[in-house]
Amino acid sequence: MDWGLKNRLSRIIKSHDNRALMLAVDHGYFLGPTEKLEEPNKVVAPLLKYCDSLMVTRGVQRTSVPATSDTPMVLRVSGGSSIIGDDLSQEDITVSLEDAIRLNASAVAMSIFVGSKYEYQTIVNLGKLVSEAERYGMPVLAVTAVGKELGKDARYLSLACRIAAEQGAHIVKTYYCDNFEKVVQSCPVPIIVAGGKKIPERDALQLTYNAIKAGAVGVDMGRNIWQSEHPVAMIQAARSIIHGNSNVEQAYNLYKKLSTQSKSKKLNNPTQSKSKKLNNPTQSKK
Ligand code: R5P
Repeated sequence: MDWGLKNRLSRIIKSHDNRALMLAVDHGYFLGPTEKLEEPNKVVAPLLKYCDSLMVTRGVQRTSVPATSDTPMVLRVSGGSSIIGDDLSQEDITVSLEDAIRLNASAVAMSIFVGSKYEYQTIVNLGKLVSEAERYGMPVLAVTAVGKELGKDARYLSLACRIAAEQGAHIVKTYYCDNFEKVVQSCPVPIIVAGGKKIPERDALQLTYNAIKAGAVGVDMGRNIWQSEHPVAMIQAARSIIHGNSNVEQAYNLYKKLSTQSKSKKLNNPTQSKSKKLNNPTQSKK
């Protein structure tokens, strides 16, 4: 593997423990202003320091992520359909490699829709994207998209992940399922697990734990973090499983502790604490 490719990958999958916590905020590319992601800058700002990388579209990156950030960007480069359109699987490549490099992406990401009407188009696009990206040492993350009509069991996901890896994807993002070990075993590249739709916090932490135990390198989690009542507490709890080897109980206790702290901070008059800082900046630094 070329040095540049290795280096970019190591920004996403941390070499000290071979784990990754990716925060997904790319949903608007087909969902528009989805619930709690209406103002991406407000979602991203408090969470950025807790994730290893951010999965993002170029529009959100340019408008809602500070250019001074040193968090690696995983740039979604596919799109073309919407939640109200005819077929979500009709995606094409919408962002050039040149723009990805200009945006200092650490990887590019696209979806494949195995078993859908546009299977051929999306898989061929993946192969072409890998060929072009490798020229620049840019890793490609393939997303095995699932839809109403597509399966979400180990048999289907093994097929989709393996096809993505065979086309040369460097990381595959997929969904957790029963017998997930089988999906991991038959995929020769690292697998990262999407969080999926919002579920109770404890269940999302259980999913994170199960995915890691089954061999995933980490999670690419969106809704289960920023649709949580306490996103900052939730991302730290997920992080404690991924990088701190916490079990579900420990992570959930951390979530509860941090969310109680944030609740009581909100209850204490925020304007009062602001004026305290203004009156005595040295004291508030301590
Ligand atoms: C979906 O197509 C997007 O690529 C999301 O990045 C992905 O689904 C992960 O987000 P969530 O955890 O909300 O499923």
